[in-house]
Amino acid sequence: MTRTDSPDRQFLADYRPYPFILEQTRLEFTLAPDATRVRADLTFRPRNGSEDLLLDGGKNLHLISLTIDGREPAADQVTRDDERLVIAAAALPDGQFTLATEVEINPSANTAFEGLYISNGMFCTQCEAEGFRHITFYPDRPDVMAPFQVTIHSDQPVLLSNGNPVRQEEGLAEWHDPWPKPAYLFALVAGDLVAIEDRFTTASGRDVALNVWVRPGDEDRAGFAMESLIKSMKWDEDVYRREYDLDVFNIVAVDDFNMGAMENKGLNIFNSKLVLASPETATDADYERIESVIAHEYFHNWTGNRITCRDWFQLCLKEGLTVFRDQQFTSDMRSASVKRIGDVQALRARQFREDQGPLAHPVRPEEYEEINNFYTATVYEKGAEVIGMLKRLVGDDGYARALDLYFKRHDGEAATIEDWLKVFEDATGRDLTQFKRWYTDAGTPRLTMRETWENGRLTLHFTQHTPPTPGQNDKPPRVIPIAVGLIGPNGDEIEPTRMLEMSEAKQEFSFDGLGARPVVSALRGFSAPVILERNIDDATRAFLLAHDTDPFARWEAGRELALHALTALSQGQEGGADYIGAIGQLATDEDADPAFRALCLNLPGEEEIATRLYAAGAIPDPDAIHDARNRLARRMAETHANLLSAIYDQMVVPGPYSPDADSAARRALRISALGLLTRIDGGERAEVLFGITSNMTERMAALICLVRRGRGGVALSALHDQFKDNRLVMDKWFTVQPMAAPPADAIAIARQLSERRDFDWKNPNRFRALLGGLAANHAGFHAADGKGYDFLAEWLMKMDPINPQIAARMSTAFETWPRYDENRRKRALAALERMAAMKGISRNLREMVTRMIA
Ligand code: PHE
Ligand code: ZN
Repeated sequence: MTRTDSPDRQFLADYRPYPFILEQTRLEFTLAPDATRVRADLTFRPRNGSEDLLLDGGKNLHLISLTIDGREPAADQVTRDDERLVIAAAALPDGQFTLATEVEINPSANTAFEGLYISNGMFCTQCEAEGFRHITFYPDRPDVMAPFQVTIHSDQPVLLSNGNPVRQEEGLAEWHDPWPKPAYLFALVAGDLVAIEDRFTTASGRDVALNVWVRPGDEDRAGFAMESLIKSMKWDEDVYRREYDLDVFNIVAVDDFNMGAMENKGLNIFNSKLVLASPETATDADYERIESVIAHEYFHNWTGNRITCRDWFQLCLKEGLTVFRDQQFTSDMRSASVKRIGDVQALRARQFREDQGPLAHPVRPEEYEEINNFYTATVYEKGAEVIGMLKRLVGDDGYARALDLYFKRHDGEAATIEDWLKVFEDATGRDLTQFKRWYTDAGTPRLTMRETWENGRLTLHFTQHTPPTPGQNDKPPRVIPIAVGLIGPNGDEIEPTRMLEMSEAKQEFSFDGLGARPVVSALRGFSAPVILERNIDDATRAFLLAHDTDPFARWEAGRELALHALTALSQGQEGGADYIGAIGQLATDEDADPAFRALCLNLPGEEEIATRLYAAGAIPDPDAIHDARNRLARRMAETHANLLSAIYDQMVVPGPYSPDADSAARRALRISALGLLTRIDGGERAEVLFGITSNMTERMAALICLVRRGRGGVALSALHDQFKDNRLVMDKWFTVQPMAAPPADAIAIARQLSERRDFDWKNPNRFRALLGGLAANHAGFHAADGKGYDFLAEWLMKMDPINPQIAARMSTAFETWPRYDENRRKRALAALERMAAMKGISRNLREMVTRMIA
């Protein structure tokens, strides 16, 4: 990207260390909803020479007093603008000094949920990435680390902060966190909370008190979160030899939270939807997600907290690695192949989509205006894929040695991607100069594979090419690990997985001494985040779907068959026969994991079909895609009616609900069958199931089927009556209606819902439920008359002054606009331009719409 003259733009190349070392942070809070006092005592030492002391601090900080070693500096030595406070070098003593400030802030006016705010009467904080500057004046950057001592005065019954408790009495608590940390990991909670408690003894014998704090009444829904925490702690010891390092570990659930959860040292704060679960209120997918996010935040204790990021450009250093670790954890807890397939699906749906559009950026960006806009699928999910490739290239042993070295060398530091790659180089002797392009270059490589066969020798000819992304036109070739296996004509594997290492733009690899021409199973396990293009007919795909030994490649063959059929159908051609035939065989394959069979029965979503069409150079037509998908699903149901109905009956899970992987797998297969059967039974089975089941997994599945058929009315009011006081279930209720509605009704339904009194839109979960539900209705949101775009833009403009992070994040619903027809493009662009022209638009939303318009 080019340097624009925006004053807010930050560049990686401009990094400079902070000129002071912060030796100690002492904070004293006197909490009150409208007027909280924060006293900060910060002990600094100059790094070298004399420089001005810059402290970040927003307009919301009302400065009461400021002293240096107890003395007030002269008025002209302290200057302040909207974003910072500067103390002239001349006002600072030569050596160590303590700066003391007192400010007043107003948590109850904080609707952006960044800094200190109030959620349901409880005080809580969110500081990543730059929220701490809304609490007090501070060097709010991740490379400034210090031990924290925190005192809280409040009449709230439970007072929490990071580290270990050192004093707890009526109206007062004191916490001490000995591990130096940046301000973004600070947290404070004060409220009327109850804990479910447990304990964990670490490998070296530390006895840790574990608490999951929730509102009174929610205790019975917090047990699964606690189980997940204990499993995570054990797993990190077993697999990475990482132990916990404090006497307590607290998790708090809050209702108003911009993101999923936050890894504050010793005091993780979670969106309540990622803590609270009961069979009646949470689906199997919710349970799995809770388990993985609890793990993710816990794993940050080492990858993020003990070793943090030098600056926010290095965000993937902690997020990519921690996602990779939580993926490994889930693979170990559940079915590894099903997890891998799910992760690839999510990567394609969110990250490939991002890479394909105007918001594409490298895993490690080199510039930004608002860092909150870079908590993206590219940084997180592609960041994790890059680590997976690294592991494939250096092997499991190499990876283990590199990680040991990483923890040893950088513990207590704020590190960079260069540091990360260096430990791999030093531990394995490998040169990673070219590999680093995965971090610096945006875009999804296109990998083409061609085969030649001659005298028992099979040659695979690969080429790679990455299309231009904003600001990056030339993309030199990358290192691509390509896992390949060969399958003989009789279906037996004749060459087990081999890792081919491609590093040139064009490269070939040969297999010799083969009797008969084998079928190639390529990119096994999705060994690299690329788009593989190969000339292969449906019969060969069906063969792979039947015989491939690699579960990912096997699933992929079925996926390719389905996508081929769907793209043909949506363009008015014939298709689907091979897919329908092959799927019939697989669905009845009793040896295959039910979860795997379920994945194979689920058709690709409309968004995925659109992405595929666009990647192949076509203009996707949302209505035609919707239609094609409906027709194929109906044909599947008609062809396999008996088989599907048998599956539906067999896959009943006996006994009380349990969220374990095996039970969830059976339910998943049953639900896939139900989805297809609903196409031909008028919704009868779904209606019965909704009425008799008590678990939310089946109820939600049945409800989606009914809403899709326009028959959701009775079920929706039943759910509403039963759960109107349960926010999380009501969020589902708000999502499912616009999401599953027939596209022509989606916007009207969304509008009606938005007018309800219980559409509490300032709550991020509720806002995302409704608007995200609409955006997930591909043909509904992309209505040809532009009403979907107008509706969303209207709400983003309403949200922006209240909560810019949420407005900016939801605006990504527009990121695919360039791929549609001229009429839709014109209307989407008009909506984007209306937002861009909004008076007082936030930096967050401004950056997003500007990038999308450019
Ligand atoms: N760091 C959090 C995570 O684990 C995400 C987050 C970012 C939460 C910013 C809140 C604010 O991924
Ligand atoms: Zn994270």
